[in-house]
Amino acid sequence: MTDIAVLGYGTVGSGVVEVIDKNSKSIGMKAGDEIRIKYVLDLRDFPGDRVESVLVHDFDVILSDPSVRIVVEVMGGVEPAYTFVKKSLLAGKSVCTSNKELVAKHGPELISIARKKGINFLFEASVGGAIPVIRPINSSLTADAILQIKGILNGTTNYILTQMADEGWEFDKALETAQKLGYAERDPEADIEGYDACRKIAILSSLAYGRNVDFEKIYTEGISKITATDICYAKKLGCAVKLLASSEYDDGKYYAMVAPFLVRSTHPLYSVNGVYNAIFVNGESIGDVMFYGSGAGKLPTACAVVADVVDAAKHLDKHIYTFWSEEDLELTGIENATRSFFVRMSGKPEEQKDRIEAAFAGAQMLTVDEDPDGFGFVTGPVTEKEFNERLKDLTGVKGRIRFE
Ligand code: NDP
Ligand code: HSE
Repeated sequence: MTDIAVLGYGTVGSGVVEVIDKNSKSIGMKAGDEIRIKYVLDLRDFPGDRVESVLVHDFDVILSDPSVRIVVEVMGGVEPAYTFVKKSLLAGKSVCTSNKELVAKHGPELISIARKKGINFLFEASVGGAIPVIRPINSSLTADAILQIKGILNGTTNYILTQMADEGWEFDKALETAQKLGYAERDPEADIEGYDACRKIAILSSLAYGRNVDFEKIYTEGISKITATDICYAKKLGCAVKLLASSEYDDGKYYAMVAPFLVRSTHPLYSVNGVYNAIFVNGESIGDVMFYGSGAGKLPTACAVVADVVDAAKHLDKHIYTFWSEEDLELTGIENATRSFFVRMSGKPEEQKDRIEAAFAGAQMLTVDEDPDGFGFVTGPVTEKEFNERLKDLTGVKGRIRFE
């Protein structure tokens, strides 16, 4: 019997308990031993709930019990999660977590403690919910030089953008529903402003390139400025708006960014809808490998966490080597990246046509019925730096979205 403790009985934590209860026989067979939930830690009481008899409010009960070999951290946030996880590892307990905030901030240190202790710090669920992507980067793809990672890494924002485009929902209604469905972070600003996707691309990039990518140095824009009108223009252009997170190695330099992009209907990410995530990993020899699946939600995420528990139970006294150096990877700014932009303007196209042509020769003008007092235009390929400089020559700019 392998005893585990679950820290946090919220969306993911209750999913972990449910999955272990439901599939206990097959999980035990795959782990080589029965997995027993000895404790669940939460701030609240759950009268009449299945966890009532194992519920504790004091973390020290778990820490001081030597029979607990694996701790599942699904509380979220950096503190007290960091303190609890570090203490657990130092006490010789393996940790499985879905907490990307914790992993992005303290991943290398926690991996290093686990390595020294001969135990494991596993975090498959921290990126892409149910999608296996961390394990493949750490094992199946290790023979090749990874050149690029690009994808939709946040379920909440993809759900919001999909509902706005397909159902004509307002932003607020889509967000509220994503929260009800258990997709959103406790503070949904992390989803909406792109911070969650930023932490996830930092985690994937650190593992892929072997050095620590500081998430605070990644250029990050969220979807809070995307409006229903932008989506009408996107449709007219045959595109969908997607929050993309990416990192790239090119000519000796590393780049990373998170921002909304216009994705054309021919692009594989165009049809990644709702809470689904998809991640492309491009290697020098392997070319593109794509990972796709549910990016958030109680049971999909819980399955990824429990799979880590199974792995930890199979390797109770053996560290599964993960290379994530504490040395920082230097990121180059995005100002020289070249791409087309869609720009939304107020006023009439005839009044601004000449100025737009002078700033962005060959720009394609467009209008939609839903924007009677404004119009849009699409530039040819231009660097971020040039684009920002030339845009200053125009008045009435209401927004801009990059083309993928
Ligand atoms: P929830 O807010 O639903 O659950 C967190 C639980 O932890 C709550 O029950 C909370 O109690 C409890 N908790 C918080 N602080 C403490 C503490 N100090 N001691 C004991 N219990 C505490 O979050 P989620 O389950 O949605 O997310 C958990 C983690 O998983 C986060 O890091 C999130 O980013 C990540 N994640 C979530 C996914 C999802 O789809 N929801 C998908 C992938 C990852 P209380 O409510 O009383 O504060
Ligand atoms: N809030 C996150 C999302 C949860 O929507 O993707 C999964 O990490």
